Amino acid sequence: MQAATVVENPMRAGMRLERTAEPCAVVIFGASGDLAKRKLIPALYRLVQEHLLPAEFAIIGLGRTAMTDEEFRDKMKASVVEFSEAKSVDEEVWQSFAGGMQFLPSNIDQPECYGELAKLLEQVDKEHGTQGNRLFYLSVAPEFYAEAVRQLGEAGLTKQDKGWVRVIIEKPFGTSLDSARELNQQILRYLDESQIYRIDHYLGKETVQNLLVFRFANGIYEPLWNRQYIDHVQITNAETVGVEGRGGYYEKSGVVRDMIQNHVFQVLSIVAMEPPASLSSEDVRDEKIKAMHSARAFTPERVAAECVRGQYGAGSIGGKPVPGYREEQGVAPDSTTETFAMVTMWFDNWRWSGVPFYIRSGKRLAKRVTEIAIQFRQVPHQLFGAAAMEQVSPNQLVIRIQPDEGITMRVAAKVPGQVTRIRDVNMDFRYGASFGVQLAEAYERLILDCILGDSTLYARKDMTERGWEIVMPILDYWAARKSEADFPNYEAGSWGPEESFHILEQQGRHWRRP
Ligand code: BG6
Repeated sequence: MQAATVVENPMRAGMRLERTAEPCAVVIFGASGDLAKRKLIPALYRLVQEHLLPAEFAIIGLGRTAMTDEEFRDKMKASVVEFSEAKSVDEEVWQSFAGGMQFLPSNIDQPECYGELAKLLEQVDKEHGTQGNRLFYLSVAPEFYAEAVRQLGEAGLTKQDKGWVRVIIEKPFGTSLDSARELNQQILRYLDESQIYRIDHYLGKETVQNLLVFRFANGIYEPLWNRQYIDHVQITNAETVGVEGRGGYYEKSGVVRDMIQNHVFQVLSIVAMEPPASLSSEDVRDEKIKAMHSARAFTPERVAAECVRGQYGAGSIGGKPVPGYREEQGVAPDSTTETFAMVTMWFDNWRWSGVPFYIRSGKRLAKRVTEIAIQFRQVPHQLFGAAAMEQVSPNQLVIRIQPDEGITMRVAAKVPGQVTRIRDVNMDFRYGASFGVQLAEAYERLILDCILGDSTLYARKDMTERGWEIVMPILDYWAARKSEADFPNYEAGSWGPEESFHILEQQGRHWRRP
């Protein structure tokens, strides 16, 4: 039976509160892992605290570590205290939350575990009234995604005969175009696309969702949102952190796989897309993929001329010395993995023809910031003369995704005084100041959307594959030229390799200093 949930998009004001989540059991694979501890359990706790989940709700944690239910609850309570914003739990809320929490020691590749899980779910349905609705959250190593889905399928747990069954799959979704295609094929043998929720936590960020509202709920921007008025777009996704003990994973990944192919492309597609016919998940995702289909392919010549790879050497962040990437734990001393990448994208369509989108993403950069800067064209005629305009740059609209979420518009204004001098000033909107609320964690939003049956903020099959299709020529080109990587080529705490600045300068443009 397909769930009767009406799939409406919560981005419509107020819509979210009108919809109530149905009773359900959430099964977390990898419940003793880091993600469950840091993000999933604190997010679920908050949803209960905010009365966004029904009383008929249960959590089953699966993990290899042997633990009793009591031990699991205690561990999870400590995580909520440690990782939630409030740094504490409300005892009353915790009791109702923990009441439906159980742990099943299990090995993901053993069929017996799925039999036990099926029994436990039946029992949970009876005891907690969860009505056969199930959300399986695969928070395990990527090599287990297909296996877990296969075993769930073989055990009859993907069938929607009693209630709905949805599966959240964590990133990374594949490590190449071929592996992503294969994974899609494998999971689609047991699940319908409508049951698959491929998570990308950037889509759960408030400001990313606000991009849609900003573009399509305001009359003044959309007429300017094209090649006629926009000179170019810059997307900066900068982190100050290094690989944080994940050297082993990162060595096989690099920033293009880790950040650009998924998170940055999700944001980029919302900036580049056409207005959707409606806010239904399919209409929104149709427009995003359409935009990505018009992204120009990367030829070897384009990669050589328009893309830059980098790797950090030792340096300092916030006044503290930090080691270079090759000195990090789990990293080869001659590693050629890129921790920084700049790519230039072109969309060959009517809206964006001739407008470059410059993207850069990296670790150990000068500042933690993710922003989209829309740079408008120069005025067609310098009415005020070159001298007066000396300190003026073209208008720029900056959408800050994190931190200090908000929007800034750079405009030219007259400096007070008898002489006409003109300077840039900023018109600023800050979430914190305007709404005075703490923004919800991305995982809260996304898990709730999945329970509500809304997949708008999840990656569809075609988008995961298209992302890989776009970046593969870059990865292949770099992999074939490992020996030419002159690494390390940027200092920790800087803005990345000089070459990324040169590319823009050659075109008479400059990277913003966020
Ligand atoms: C994860 C990457 O997906 O996103 C990490 O694997 C990265 O390497 C993280 O640090 C960044 O997320 P955020 O929300 O802090 O920008």
